[in-house]
Amino acid sequence: MKAVRIHQFGGPEVLIYESAPVPEIAAGEVLVRVKAAGVNPVDWKVRSGGSRIGAGEPLPIILGWDISGTVEAIAPDVTAFKPGDEVFGMVRFPELGSAYAEYVAAPVAHLTPKPKTLTHVQAAAVPLAALTAWQALFDALDLQPGQRLLIHAAAGGVGHIGVQLARMHGAHVIGTASARNAEFVRSLGAAEVIDYTTTHFEKVVGDLDCVFDCVGTQTQTRSLAVIRPGGKLVGITGQIEPALAKARKIELHRILVHTSAEQQAQIAELIDAGELKVEVDAVFPLHEARNAHELSETRHLRGKIVLEM
Ligand SMILES: NC(=O)c1ccc[n+]([C@@H]2O[C@H](COP(=O)([O-])OP(=O)(O)OC[C@H]3O[C@@H](n4cnc5c(N)ncnc54)[C@H](OP(=O)(O)O)[C@@H]3O)[C@@H](O)[C@H]2O)c1
Repeated sequence: MKAVRIHQFGGPEVLIYESAPVPEIAAGEVLVRVKAAGVNPVDWKVRSGGSRIGAGEPLPIILGWDISGTVEAIAPDVTAFKPGDEVFGMVRFPELGSAYAEYVAAPVAHLTPKPKTLTHVQAAAVPLAALTAWQALFDALDLQPGQRLLIHAAAGGVGHIGVQLARMHGAHVIGTASARNAEFVRSLGAAEVIDYTTTHFEKVVGDLDCVFDCVGTQTQTRSLAVIRPGGKLVGITGQIEPALAKARKIELHRILVHTSAEQQAQIAELIDAGELKVEVDAVFPLHEARNAHELSETRHLRGKIVLEM
């Protein structure tokens, strides 16, 4: 099969499009013929060698976790899927998922039926970002209807899904984004958008119930000033000193996304009901994975990037 592998950690140039063995399936797994693979910032963090994920793995490795495709073969004990089924999922995170390839061996527990209303390219954009947003809002923050929530990087892969889920849940959503993305974030259901390039959010919001940060340590530290005592902060990248949050009586969460077939099925249901949309900013053929990483590393996406096989 064709795949994009790295033989060393480094810049986008270490991504090599080449032939690789088709993976073998173990008990409880299916072989998926991948039609599209989603690109997430963790992919280039691993590629650069700057992540604990992938560290110590024997090289070469195949990056990526999000896939959408068709079941090609099943292990003898598998009953949940049959060849020809259209599936999508986040495979093996935070172990290697090896998604940048024409075939992926995936545990059945990591796959659910592909949303019927989406193409494979759109479906591949969903799992990691949507599961992260879901787990941050509902598992960590335990978001309640009527709460005032600030989402940092509301136009990004995770943020744009977070805005919609929070709005659907009855929250008053405020998002940060650059002016270019303000209208987009509003269209997702944000009541207010703050242009972080011209306005310090601390100057225009306060007394919030929750903040969902998708930017980093500095934004999280600054966010403590706008959360009410007893309020909550969840971060998905970077890490602030827990004592800072404790001093202000703010509940601090940091999450690492995990597989949940149940949540993924609920996400697919919302998509097929027309309530949740996924924005695909750019699509590249698999052999142009380097360009996809270069774009992702700019940190200025609207929605997601996808590789098409
Ligand atoms: N812990 C976990 O399980 C987990 C899961 C998923 C992601 N993550 C991490 O979370 C981060 C976000 O992921 P993602 O996929 O959403 O990234 P992304 O799609 O690359 O985010 C891009 C967005 O960030 C916005 N942005 C950049 N700087 C900003 C700032 N200072 N304030 C507000 N918005 C800003 C950009 O808006 P403009 O273009 O308008 O500037 C753009 O829309 C990444 O670091 C990723 O690795 C962690």
